[in-house]
Amino acid sequence: MTNSFTNASAKDAGAAWLGGEFAGKLVVGNWKMNGLATDAKALVQALVAQGAGDKPLAHQGQAQGQGDVQVAICPPFTLLNPVREWLGAAPLWLGAQDCHAQDGGAFTGNISAAMLRDAGCQLCILGHSERRQAGESSSQIAEKLAAALRHQLIPILCIGETLAERQAGQTLAVLAEQLASSLPLPLAGSGGSSATAAPIVVAYEPVWAIGTGLSATLDQIAEVHQFLRQQTAALGHVPLLYGGSVKASNAAEIMALGDVDGVLVGGASLNAEEFWQIAVAASTVLAGRSVSTAAA
Ligand code: PGA
Repeated sequence: MTNSFTNASAKDAGAAWLGGEFAGKLVVGNWKMNGLATDAKALVQALVAQGAGDKPLAHQGQAQGQGDVQVAICPPFTLLNPVREWLGAAPLWLGAQDCHAQDGGAFTGNISAAMLRDAGCQLCILGHSERRQAGESSSQIAEKLAAALRHQLIPILCIGETLAERQAGQTLAVLAEQLASSLPLPLAGSGGSSATAAPIVVAYEPVWAIGTGLSATLDQIAEVHQFLRQQTAALGHVPLLYGGSVKASNAAEIMALGDVDGVLVGGASLNAEEFWQIAVAASTVLAGRSVSTAAA
């Protein structure tokens, strides 16, 4: 039985896969502060077993890698190295949940982007609302993002409004501000120059939808993603993820939205079968798109 993940060579070609006219789906699991070695090993082994099974994720008929589903997991720092070993040749990407802005030095308790790259990471989540709520500022996030890019990590920049901000009608303004102040790069309308070669992923995560079981509605997601597409236009096609109570039962309808390039999954990523069903949903959405394109 063939391994049905995307091509293993894509593992070290994240920039190429995400760059250009991105046509795939990125499914990222954020384990947060969960995972001890025994359970984590079982989870990774179950994921690898799923990927080697008969649930194809590679989207047929696309240029190799570009139109596929890429699955990534972001365990806590302590598990990065063992997870890399447990993954073996399975082409899931490995990501971290934060990094320090400096490359090294007297920063007790911190982990640099260089260390993450050294540990085999392709991705790094930055600016998660759980970190912003703990006091992380957008300017600190911008510095971390620059560090990630210096070390060839693909940053997943998280932005999102609180319930109070949404109820006050401030959602788009809050997102625009977070985006502009967390990115160390010129954005559309800011008088900046051209696109950057460095791939950056942006995840829209409404704070009120995280861990609550209450996902944003499809209309809310569509409105925000359309807005973010415009806001990031100067950077080329920035893959846009949605995060906040994504599960197997709602993943397909969310990823079928035109400007949703994937999902960032918290709680549901701790269950191998549930997480894999989300990846399969991504594949199904892509397959559906190619069918309708062919029919058009
Ligand atoms: P959730 O978390 O899927 O558990 O809502 C998402 C996230 O925080 O990235």
